[in-house]
Amino acid sequence: MYQDVIKYIKELYKTDKFIPLHAPTLQGNEKKYILDCIDSTFVSSVGKYVDLFEQKIAEYIGVKRAIVCVNGTNAIQMCLQILGVKQGDEVITQALTFVATANAISYLNAIPVFVDVDKDTMGLSPSALKTFLLENAILKNGVCLNKNTGRTIKACVPMHTFGHACRIEELLEICTEYNIELIEDAAEAMGSRVGEKHLGTFGRMSAISFNGNKIMTTGGGGMIITNDEKLASRAKHLTTQAKVPHKWEYVHDAVGYNFRMPNINAALGVAQLEQLDTFIVNKRLTAEKYNVFFKDNEVKFFKERASTFSNYWLNAVILKDKHERDAFLEALNSNGVMARPIWKLMNKLEMFKDCPKGELSNSQWLEDRVVNLPSSVKI
Ligand SMILES: Cc1ncc(COP(=O)(O)O)c(C=O)c1O
Repeated sequence: MYQDVIKYIKELYKTDKFIPLHAPTLQGNEKKYILDCIDSTFVSSVGKYVDLFEQKIAEYIGVKRAIVCVNGTNAIQMCLQILGVKQGDEVITQALTFVATANAISYLNAIPVFVDVDKDTMGLSPSALKTFLLENAILKNGVCLNKNTGRTIKACVPMHTFGHACRIEELLEICTEYNIELIEDAAEAMGSRVGEKHLGTFGRMSAISFNGNKIMTTGGGGMIITNDEKLASRAKHLTTQAKVPHKWEYVHDAVGYNFRMPNINAALGVAQLEQLDTFIVNKRLTAEKYNVFFKDNEVKFFKERASTFSNYWLNAVILKDKHERDAFLEALNSNGVMARPIWKLMNKLEMFKDCPKGELSNSQWLEDRVVNLPSSVKI
């Protein structure tokens, strides 16, 4: 079964050896910049690469400020906290996401609320969000309340699955109408856009990940993106132990965090960013090849939505049903081609099983069918 797919992927990656889902490509100035850090002894949380990386990412995305973090999960946590999410608040997100989205909400003792995704974006569905709010929410003195739980619905965190844009403009409109903060989990979407506008620039704050498996990596790392100088300063302050600047005194004016990305990781990030456009071109070519290969196949290749530009971080296919999905996974993985199913829905995980949720039929449909294929940049 699926021998044609296995053969094709081996040809595509020109190897008979094991093919991973996503390996980093480290062929630019990575070594040079890291050696520069070592020579300078600035290997830890201050140094020129930290500042440079923030500046270059802000320029690339077209925002005023970018603030480094240790990883994407704490970048999401910081956005939520800075935009006012507190213990006992509800935060809407999609049921079909990587667990980090829901974990970041939980770190603040807030409650994730799971809403359905669109089948053609795999990201939060505006119509499902609208339905959920019409059925469950009221606006009272400008505050959005969940009628059933009495809790404030403070924020909404859509996620751009595998680098594909969700219907972010529509989501923003709905959130604005209900006075809910929109925070994009753009962990997977570095370089993806709607028209010319980069993902991560729609809400007031958003988060990106540079984990080892992402389109560009700092080893481990994340970034907060914002156009608001005040929010940016707050983010920098809180992620660096909330230290009040002083020549020598240790004064801290809040419970801060040590979420500083080390200079050595930022050096890696600067080198990776220099190659990002090449990575994206390369990955989009691979996606097009998969698209042509699966054209008349029962297995359907997942494509970017019209007028959006995806980084095609992870390529995905849709199988006929769960049974076929499992057969496909078995065939590829036992023949040296790494393939993975999409995530289990968040509401099925033990720690989130009692969280409020909407109707989740699209999420379930996708959970049963979506498989990721090898997607590394081809050298
Ligand atoms: C959708 C999503 N959100 C959040 C994260 C968290 O990023 P990190 O691993 O850098 O903490 C990831 C990636 O790991 C992700 O894929």
